[in-house]
Amino acid sequence: MSADSPKAAGQLPLEGTEPPELGPTGRPYRDIPDPRPLDKHGPAKVIAVCNQKGGVGKTTSTINLGAALAEAGRRVLLVDLDPQGALSAGLGVPHHELDETVHNLLVAPYAATDDVLLRTRVDGLDLLPSNIDLSAAEIQLVSEVGREQALARALHPVADRYDYILIDCQPSLGLLTVNALACADSVLIPMECEYFSLRGLALLTDTIEKVHDRLNPRLTLGGILVTMFDARTLHSRDVMARVVEVFGDAVFDTVISRTVRFPETSVAGEPITSWAPKSAGAVAYRNLAREVIARNEQ
Ligand SMILES: Nc1ncnc2c1ncn2[C@@H]1O[C@H](COP(=O)(O)OP(=O)(O)OP(=O)(O)O)[C@@H](O)[C@H]1O
Ligand SMILES: [Mg+2]
Repeated sequence: MSADSPKAAGQLPLEGTEPPELGPTGRPYRDIPDPRPLDKHGPAKVIAVCNQKGGVGKTTSTINLGAALAEAGRRVLLVDLDPQGALSAGLGVPHHELDETVHNLLVAPYAATDDVLLRTRVDGLDLLPSNIDLSAAEIQLVSEVGREQALARALHPVADRYDYILIDCQPSLGLLTVNALACADSVLIPMECEYFSLRGLALLTDTIEKVHDRLNPRLTLGGILVTMFDARTLHSRDVMARVVEVFGDAVFDTVISRTVRFPETSVAGEPITSWAPKSAGAVAYRNLAREVIARNEQ
């Protein structure tokens, strides 16, 4: 091959062309289109935010992605599917005092979803709250017919009003999480940027596959969100490279850095997008919302 053939030329940096700037994923930055205004709302895309590992940023991501989608003009419903009620608490809802929660919707045959629904302080962002009552649901549902579809039945009456329903799962792959996967269009997996986190993902993707094959053929992997990233450490960059090697384009370009601002927002009972609107964390979740919109509204 002669040196001036196209292939040989492609291997050499052409004079005057800069190599593309790489993002934290090690891939070149991509242009994500601006979200278009919607001419009508609904039916909702249902996204289960799921990882059986604890403390990886599921609840933080549900709240802040939800708030950022609402800022982009989408109508969003957040579902607290964790008996700890951290999602409800993170939005400033005194969940311990509530009588009507997601628990009623799952186990009481005539409970109305609208009676449980709460508005949040963020425009366009609603919540189905939970508290410790939900911890009984797995046992109560075990003997029910259609026990995996209890959440789908509860969401059905309101799904047409929203553009996105985000479900914050508890850190387990039990019946509650299976309920979330059974009614979801896609799964968003927050993953702490830490070596051992990778191991747990195989079990999670197995479960997603089983639910896809046996209960919900619509279910897809909506994306992997790397959280608690620290660009200064080689470890973070190594883990990131490995995640991208395994999951490719499923990994969001947006990466959530480790910052104390997130624990602070939990105390404030507000999303970071309104509590510290200019912070890097708020910007990151807005970028994630753009990616989610681009992936879902083609
Ligand atoms: N990017 C981040 N940087 C620093 N701290 C974070 C970040 N994201 C979340 N946190 C904090 O880490 C803790 C766990 O986060 P979060 O509750 O969102 O995880 P989770 O996966 O929902 O946990 P669980 O499995 O217990 O439900 C919280 O105190 C939260 O404020
Ligand atoms: Mg949580």
